[in-house]
Amino acid sequence: MPNSVITIPIADIILDEGIYPRQKIDHKRVSLFAENIRDNFPFDPIEVEPHPEKPGKYRILDGAHRWCAYKATGVMTLQVIIKHLDGTDPLLYAAGKAIGPRQLTEEETKNTARRAFQNNPALTSSQIGSAIGRSRQAVDSYIADLRAVVQMVLDLKIFRLKCLGIPQERIAARLGIPQQTISDHLPRMPGLANPVNSDLHRGFTVSQVAEKHGWTESMVWSLALEGKNDLQRFKALNWGLRTWDYWEWTDCDKRFGDEWPGRIPGQLIAHILYYFSEQKDLIFDPMAGGGVTADVCLAFNRRCWSTDMIDQPDKRPEIEPHFCEITQGAQKNEPFLHGKEKPGLIIFDPPYFDKKAKDYDQKSISMLSKKDYLAFYEGFFRHIKKHIKKTTKIAFINADWRNFQSTPANDEDPQEAILILDYPAIFHKTGWQATHTIQAPMSSERFHPGVVAAMQKKKILGVTTRFVIILKQAY
Ligand SMILES: C[S@@+](CC[C@H](N)C(=O)[O-])C[C@H]1O[C@@H](n2cnc3c(N)ncnc32)[C@H](O)[C@@H]1O
Repeated sequence: MPNSVITIPIADIILDEGIYPRQKIDHKRVSLFAENIRDNFPFDPIEVEPHPEKPGKYRILDGAHRWCAYKATGVMTLQVIIKHLDGTDPLLYAAGKAIGPRQLTEEETKNTARRAFQNNPALTSSQIGSAIGRSRQAVDSYIADLRAVVQMVLDLKIFRLKCLGIPQERIAARLGIPQQTISDHLPRMPGLANPVNSDLHRGFTVSQVAEKHGWTESMVWSLALEGKNDLQRFKALNWGLRTWDYWEWTDCDKRFGDEWPGRIPGQLIAHILYYFSEQKDLIFDPMAGGGVTADVCLAFNRRCWSTDMIDQPDKRPEIEPHFCEITQGAQKNEPFLHGKEKPGLIIFDPPYFDKKAKDYDQKSISMLSKKDYLAFYEGFFRHIKKHIKKTTKIAFINADWRNFQSTPANDEDPQEAILILDYPAIFHKTGWQATHTIQAPMSSERFHPGVVAAMQKKKILGVTTRFVIILKQAY
């Protein structure tokens, strides 16, 4: 869009400190300008851009002192040039405009370079330098410490994604960097582990080491447990191994996965991995939520691909954004299963029907009608089967959904419910066969004693029973 000169109310113009390169307004200069305005001295129009977060408002790119002076003289409207920067960094543009009339101080120039880099670490020193009138080397020295931090964060992300077995081209696409950058970083990876390993050998705990080095706890566990077999890993994590098909824990282990609606315990994932996979196997979690599967896979030396409709690029770069969509009984393109490498085990923990529906995104499958929810599974199981290897299994985690919260047990309407017993027909139709039905109950401790007492009085029968159903392909 071309830049245009128009007259707008002065009240619609904002001085946004985030893109203002100077430390402060020079009030002497403002008074001088105000006098000039009263003497009808002509000034160039100030430059503004549409405010990205405040519709109808404009923020100043050039002319903050003139704007203050006009305000002081009481004018109500102002001629402005509306700029459309089309991707140019607004702070650097504003700094470039400030070079001419009254140079930025050395301090302001340095701060501008640092703020521009913090806003957008993809900017090169030359780009910043040419906007603020400094050499590339000068900018390098202004931002050396910030760049080192960005580099370290990027190195750790690459290391994590690599440990999880995500292919290099997907890591590059996910982190928005060229594949060559990943190849350049990879030789540095073993070196990254040295200070962490040495602190572990000195006897610091995993959480102390994670905090000190800015690593995630699961990454530190993956190093701390290197070379150990699964049983030793259970022991080191202080998780008793369940021998029977009843896996109960009172709480989720906070060390694995984030707070998330429908979060499952890391211990549950560890048991699925122990019984149904081997070290180094590739696991796939298509609805990964708070990342518990990836975290536990790191601690148990499994590779793991994860996807979810919710994207958290900074916190959970390993969870690649993907929306599972079923149209006319078939799932739309599932990009992660088309490659040569196939997962050996799929851990599938979907949101239960209608359960916590308001906690999830509007497009989550928990918002579907009963008919569409069941149709989703049919499409999902059928589609998955087409794109995996013969031996791939699914660990399907689900529970009865009954609208128990407001209804006495005797009055519940089965038409409103989806029971675990409804799923075997879908497995059968789509070529899957259940081999194990493991009980992994949800904790009832999440219910307040007052709520429990009210339920008892009204003869409401709650649900805590949750199942892990292991599926193999029937043909
Ligand atoms: C029960 S949660 C998974 C929780 C996870 N296992 C954990 O412990 O953190 C289900 C996830 O499915 C995701 N989801 C729901 N519908 C989806 C869809 N159609 N495509 C992709 N993800 C979906 C939700 O965003 C949610 O994170």
